[in-house]
Amino acid sequence: MEPVVQYKEVQKSFGDTHVLKGINLDIMPSEKIAIIGPSGSGKTTIIRLLMTLAEPTGGDILVDGKNLWKMEVNGKTKTANEKHLGAVRDDIGMVFQHFNLFPHKTILENCTLPLTSVQKMDKTEAEALAKQMLDRVGLGDKFEAYPANLSGGQKQRVAMARALVMKPKIMLFDEVTSALDPELVGEVLEVIRDLAAHEDMAMVLVTHEMEFALEIADRVLFLDEGVIAESGPADDVINKSENPRLQEFLKRFRSNGQS
Ligand SMILES: Nc1ncnc2c1ncn2[C@@H]1O[C@H](COP(=O)(O)OP(=O)(O)OP(=O)(O)O)[C@@H](O)[C@H]1O
Ligand SMILES: [Mg+2]
Repeated sequence: MEPVVQYKEVQKSFGDTHVLKGINLDIMPSEKIAIIGPSGSGKTTIIRLLMTLAEPTGGDILVDGKNLWKMEVNGKTKTANEKHLGAVRDDIGMVFQHFNLFPHKTILENCTLPLTSVQKMDKTEAEALAKQMLDRVGLGDKFEAYPANLSGGQKQRVAMARALVMKPKIMLFDEVTSALDPELVGEVLEVIRDLAAHEDMAMVLVTHEMEFALEIADRVLFLDEGVIAESGPADDVINKSENPRLQEFLKRFRSNGQS
């Protein structure tokens, strides 16, 4: 089986700040990966590069074998243009810490918009699919509501439905529960748990929820100062690793409830 995503020696600097220092990572179809690590270690940057929200300063990212940031023109390698990026990015969905919904559009419109604008799907078909995905995240009774009338947990579930309508091969979650009131975290984790159990797509979760990572991740990566310092089955990395930096991180994390 071919990986759905490959990072090959990926580097990212912002000015003088060297954030990612040679990331090598193969993500297999349907694999569920959790990324943990201290603040500033580069977790968000790793997934933003895949979502094409930032450009690597070195190395390559391949999606389904296609180079995301480079394209071939008449046998020559060139920097990818918008069309190429858009085509490759179609396979990737992302849910952010802050949901970024359109406030003046209904929940249903928020979810049909990517289909009608990006995929040029007709409205009836788009609405049917959006309703199916909103049902999937437990919001089948909220189609006509506006974001302002939803709780944070419900908004986050809309954001998931909006990503799911695109039927991505890989879905990225960046600390999607960390901006929520504690009592709303459970309902969002429940949806992710359900997706992880029943969907074939690969999932990459940046998370501070260690128990949750243990429960759903096939593999956990510990990112430390821009390198993948540990990678392995969740239980091995979280409970059995002897890496002192990881132990320090987990200890700090357990004593504060966060990193
Ligand atoms: N657009 C940017 N411009 C300049 N520096 C940036 C930018 N984005 C990220 N950085 C820097 O890159 C480093 C890694 O940031 P990143 O957001 O990937 O960390 P993180 O592991 O997600 O941290 P956190 O747990 O706090 O979310 C930080 O030092 C950050 O200040
Ligand atoms: Mg982050």
